[in-house]
Amino acid sequence: MQHTRIVVTHYGGPDTIQVVEEECPGPKRGELRVRMLAAGVSLPDVLAREGVHPETPRVPYTPGWDLVGVVDQIGEGASGFELGQTVAAMPISGCYAQYVCLPQRKFIPVPAGLDPAEAVAVVLNYITAYQMLHRSAKAKPGQRVLIHGASGGVGTAFLQLGRLAGVEMYGTCSAQAAEVVKELGATPIDYRSSDFVQEIHRLTGEGMDAVFDGIGGDNLWRSREALRDGGRVVVYGFQAKLRGGRMASGTPNGRHAIRESAILGWYILRNRFLPGRKGMVPYSISG
Ligand SMILES: NC(=O)c1ccc[n+]([C@@H]2O[C@H](COP(=O)([O-])OP(=O)(O)OC[C@H]3O[C@@H](n4cnc5c(N)ncnc54)[C@H](OP(=O)(O)O)[C@@H]3O)[C@@H](O)[C@H]2O)c1
Repeated sequence: MQHTRIVVTHYGGPDTIQVVEEECPGPKRGELRVRMLAAGVSLPDVLAREGVHPETPRVPYTPGWDLVGVVDQIGEGASGFELGQTVAAMPISGCYAQYVCLPQRKFIPVPAGLDPAEAVAVVLNYITAYQMLHRSAKAKPGQRVLIHGASGGVGTAFLQLGRLAGVEMYGTCSAQAAEVVKELGATPIDYRSSDFVQEIHRLTGEGMDAVFDGIGGDNLWRSREALRDGGRVVVYGFQAKLRGGRMASGTPNGRHAIRESAILGWYILRNRFLPGRKGMVPYSISG
């Protein structure tokens, strides 16, 4: 049986994406094969394609962080799942394919009756938001938090979870997204037409308990300025590396993952020597 899979052949723009028809993989011992119902599409896919994401796979690779699918073959020795059962997984790459084989331990069951496209959104975006809020920031009701990119995939997940946690939320977004951010319970701050540090201090006086920064680069220092003494910036992305979906700096295409992690390490180290007892902690869903 043939299946279709997307392959990134080298690092760079959308022209690096190819569609291949090939023999459908069979599950090895301990693996399940799933037929794809929905694969998450996210900004980390673009960052990996450009070679700047810390988890960038080596080329050639198939993109796609997370999936919801139906178990269609069970490899020898695998148990605990049934044929036809709906499952989810987050292998970090490989989900832009009609069929995927993964070790059984990578799967969790998905409750019956959920829309696969809605269920898959929970995997990368909501886990990221949940862990940052509760593990990285240990947010308590009444604390003040700022989330950058509040209208995006992780941002909107964060606002829904932050509302449940009872935190006071502020979110940077463009003007056209302000209404969505407001509806989800945060005070929108237009990052294009205003200075978010000034806005935060104007609105709150002393500043934030935590800022969640998926923008990276010099934005991290600005996020630090928006903190009160003793607050922390949770660093979780490198969006500033892109402009219009392409590498902003014009750096030659390649796998820059190690360099990006080293730059982040330098920011975190430098933060330790600055006054104000302000923390800068990295977050990655993969550990
Ligand atoms: N560490 C992890 O484990 C992990 C996991 C998942 C995602 N991430 C990271 O999370 C970040 C967001 O990913 P996503 O999938 O949520 O992206 P997304 O859906 O594309 O959302 C990003 C949002 O950021 C906004 N934005 C762009 N530039 C901004 C700026 N300078 N200041 C404030 N907001 C800005 C955009 O809003 P407008 O269009 O309105 O301008 C957009 O809505 C990425 O850096 C990604 O790599 C990290």
